[in-house]
Amino acid sequence: MLTVVKIGGAWLEAGGDATAFRALADLPGELVVVHGGGKEISRWLERAGVPVEWFEGLRVTRGDGLQLTAMVLSGWVNKRVVEAMDRAGRPAVGISGEDGRLLRAEPLDQDRLGEVGRVVAVDPGVIRALLAAGYSPVISPVSAGGDGGRPFNVNADEAAIHVARGVEANRLLLISDVPGVLAEGELLSEVDEAIAAELARRAVLLGGMRVKVEQALEVARTGVEVRIGDASLLTGAPGTRIVASSSPPARH
Ligand SMILES: Nc1ncnc2c1ncn2[C@@H]1O[C@H](COP(=O)(O)OP(=O)(O)OP(=O)(O)O)[C@@H](O)[C@H]1O
Ligand SMILES: [Mg+2]
Repeated sequence: MLTVVKIGGAWLEAGGDATAFRALADLPGELVVVHGGGKEISRWLERAGVPVEWFEGLRVTRGDGLQLTAMVLSGWVNKRVVEAMDRAGRPAVGISGEDGRLLRAEPLDQDRLGEVGRVVAVDPGVIRALLAAGYSPVISPVSAGGDGGRPFNVNADEAAIHVARGVEANRLLLISDVPGVLAEGELLSEVDEAIAAELARRAVLLGGMRVKVEQALEVARTGVEVRIGDASLLTGAPGTRIVASSSPPARH
């Protein structure tokens, strides 16, 4: 059993406490963690006087934004997660998409998003090596670029789905600061392509959650079990299951 858990910057801020990290560390089987860090990045950008801009739920990365994002995500946030996992009893090693040629990206939409990448290649070798040595990899989504020597900022949900596919994970848990996908305050138990399209059309699915559901659908199509929720997912709460298309009603 191999589980990939993506912990959102939103959750790290709101509830990333020792109890939740113990639940993470106690998950059975092999464990790979991918983290975001949205709020922490925004704080440092503001301190440095770099504008905080978003386009359709994705962070725009220009100027010093790339360096700050790499420093905050691959440096500070990455090591805080490693340390918290270690303290919870699960030895971890922190890397980014740039290490061991794990994730390679190309510009997603340079005009609108700047130095934001989409993942074009995954090499899971470094993850396999760390797991074999008894360590849980903790992955920052900053990914290797092309020949220019500069990395790309990649949305952490996108990095997580490529990692999950690359290592052929059995399940992917996307942990945020909400109990799952919400519509009019109600938690949806299951979202498929048709429901996601309808929620997006009605502007119920916004910002980072819209990106998350779109990414989750990508990996659900490959047969991986995908759930979105808060830290209670780690102790068995169902959250919202993302499925490519709902199974047809059983015939009797
Ligand atoms: N229909 C919806 N249901 C639930 N949350 C929604 C919905 N529409 C928008 N959201 C927002 O999406 C947010 C989660 O996405 P966000 O990208 O902010 O967090 P994250 O992905 O967990 O963290 P990070 O981007 O730092 O990795 C929620 O906090 C909520 O405000
Ligand atoms: Mg997000």
